[in-house]
Amino acid sequence: MKLDKTLTDKDLGQIIAQMTLEDKAKFVSGKDVWSTQAFEKYNIPAMYVADGPHGLRKVRKTTSNQLGNTIPATCFPTASALGSTWNVELIEEISAAIGKECQANNIQILLGPGLNIKRTPLNGRNFEYYSEDPYLSGKIAAAFVRGVQSQGVAACIKHFTANNQEHERMMNSSNVDERTLREIYMRGFEIAIEEADPWTMMCAYNKVNGIWANEHEWLLTKVLRDEWGYEGIVISDWAAVNKADRAVHAGLNLEMPANKFSSDKIVQAVKNGTLDEQRLDTVVKPLLRIALKTNNLKQVNTELDLNIHHTLAIRAAEESIVLLKNENDILPLDLGKLKSVAVLGRFAETPRYQGSGSSNVNAYKEENALAQIRNILGNHIEINYLPFYESRGDKYAEADLPKAIDIAKKSDVALVFIGLPDDFEAEGLDRLHADLPESHKALIREVATVQPNTIAVLSNGAAVEVEEWERDVPAILESWLSGQGSGAAVANILFGKTNPSGKISESFPLRLQHNPSHLYFPGSNRNVDYREGIFVGYRYYDTKSMEVMFPFGHGLSYTDFEYSDLVVSSKEFSDTDTLKVSCTIKNIGKRAGAEVVQLYVHDKVSELPRPIKELQAFTKIHLESGASAHVQLELNRRSFTYFDTALGEWFAESGDFDILVGSSSRDIRLRETVTLHSKQKRVRIFDKFSPLRDLQDHPIGRPFVEKMLQNFGTSLDADKPEDYEAKAIFLSLPLIKSVNFSQGTFSEDMLEDFIRKINA
Ligand code: BGC
Repeated sequence: MKLDKTLTDKDLGQIIAQMTLEDKAKFVSGKDVWSTQAFEKYNIPAMYVADGPHGLRKVRKTTSNQLGNTIPATCFPTASALGSTWNVELIEEISAAIGKECQANNIQILLGPGLNIKRTPLNGRNFEYYSEDPYLSGKIAAAFVRGVQSQGVAACIKHFTANNQEHERMMNSSNVDERTLREIYMRGFEIAIEEADPWTMMCAYNKVNGIWANEHEWLLTKVLRDEWGYEGIVISDWAAVNKADRAVHAGLNLEMPANKFSSDKIVQAVKNGTLDEQRLDTVVKPLLRIALKTNNLKQVNTELDLNIHHTLAIRAAEESIVLLKNENDILPLDLGKLKSVAVLGRFAETPRYQGSGSSNVNAYKEENALAQIRNILGNHIEINYLPFYESRGDKYAEADLPKAIDIAKKSDVALVFIGLPDDFEAEGLDRLHADLPESHKALIREVATVQPNTIAVLSNGAAVEVEEWERDVPAILESWLSGQGSGAAVANILFGKTNPSGKISESFPLRLQHNPSHLYFPGSNRNVDYREGIFVGYRYYDTKSMEVMFPFGHGLSYTDFEYSDLVVSSKEFSDTDTLKVSCTIKNIGKRAGAEVVQLYVHDKVSELPRPIKELQAFTKIHLESGASAHVQLELNRRSFTYFDTALGEWFAESGDFDILVGSSSRDIRLRETVTLHSKQKRVRIFDKFSPLRDLQDHPIGRPFVEKMLQNFGTSLDADKPEDYEAKAIFLSLPLIKSVNFSQGTFSEDMLEDFIRKINA
């Protein structure tokens, strides 16, 4: 549902004109923790807000901020898990269900989705974010927004921007160069806004390059409104605002929760002339529009069937889970060959299926893997279960180790549930390392030495190190924190009721130290410098040609897919064309399954450094055994551009690009080279320090360069080996050196004249 234009700017302007300064100042500061101000005299209704993003988290009393005491709701998979589905239709279905739960509970704004980039596996809140890739994050966030808003409820993309760690999130400045901001940390937001028009968004707690995100005029007005044409509202993260008048000046529409001192500050600032009242009117207008719009879209008597949502939660979990390793097709387990199964690790019975903090949902129902395994195995197959470790922390009883070994030894197969407990990754708490707790590692290590059929089932919100024990187990299933249905989904996949189809949306490095941000995280003295720049995740590992444990986009299936017949609509194209890329995918295995077809673009030569490949399109298709489908993906100008800060815009550089189609970032099955003839030309401005090399193709510059070279005893066309070196030296001279070498015949004034001429 797009922002409707039925309320014209004129209508809104008329209401604002009636409002007193005090009321406008009150309006932009919220009413309490979870609702906004209502004004009967102007017919302005309140809006009720609640956290998401993976389920409705409505606190029972709007005035309280407690993390517990929320109403029961459906807990869908967390963002890491949803990011691994690569299924935008499914995401839309899930978020529509969440939107419906909002309608049924009188919530007008759902605080999600979160789409910050996973810069490091250590961010304690990574489970709330989709990916290390901005394109995938943006596409999934857009789908999420569409789903929520299809129910007449506002979604809220958050946290804008460069909010990539929990350590000192309210104190730190994230220092990021503009190209990296545009290409990595803002791109997902830009895509979501362009494709789905979120009615609200949330700014980050942190500073961006020294300015609080909530006071950042460049972010909130120049880019967001003037460049991207955003028409919704920007809400502060909870208590992010330090100076309400400055936030209004920058373009923040709503401070949450209410800060009873803020309206006075705003009124004073207007009265003493440090805040223009027009700026206040500018932020009030979209806020008013959203308040009236969401009020108009309220539905009474929304009928909810939470059982339908539960079934959807199981399906969503099934699509989220990623089969990372499956040697000799040990999975799915063959019931006919089993007499006894060891189920080890507490997560089998008490699954960790979501994270703690503001996104924690009071799940109305939950599935655990142990119960579902019992259902599937019935009475004929023996199950031996040992919880082994505690739910929280890193403890186990020494006496349990021999018990676990014994159970594993006497069983046909050991299913070992391990991962990260709540206190290892959480909102407000970054991880100290990327390893599993020692108690979980001890279990998998010891069991794997006695039982060759050991299957590891992981529950964690972000990449973990597995190198220490990975070689000892034939199969690893990454179940993420995949919501209230996760237990059933895991069991269904282990025993082949469901064919896994998830693909990891973040790289699993061999070791944490390999992560590109490692030396700069978490920063010091309230500053974190993003020195790795645009080389985040696979953009770094692949460009550096580094070995990783599991590459971005990787995920196995119980069937195989064959890729063939790559066709591009045109091998030569311009930046105003849409390039269509198609291929055929065939399911050549014995089971039905789904494949995520990924398209990466590689710029073969570019003026600025670029990653060796970047994801620019994808789709997920379901195929019966033996069936094939024709898949078509589209690339546009943006798929080939980079952000050039010298030009201040996205630049499409002419040249050759490889189109890479594959099953993961490191499993490229088809490739083709295309040539872009860009209509966008880089206007080169010469100065005293431009190298002579750059003048070679210039009509006035070339004779000048030729003359210089002749003075040095060579020429542009000379091709003897010694000329090659001489040219290398002389062509790299900056223009100003023509004065030094001129023996007094060419002055600096003459040079300036010459530069004026060539620039004209
Ligand atoms: C979080 C937000 C959340 C808000 C309200 C903040 O601490 O960063 O994501 O929506 O609290 O609970």
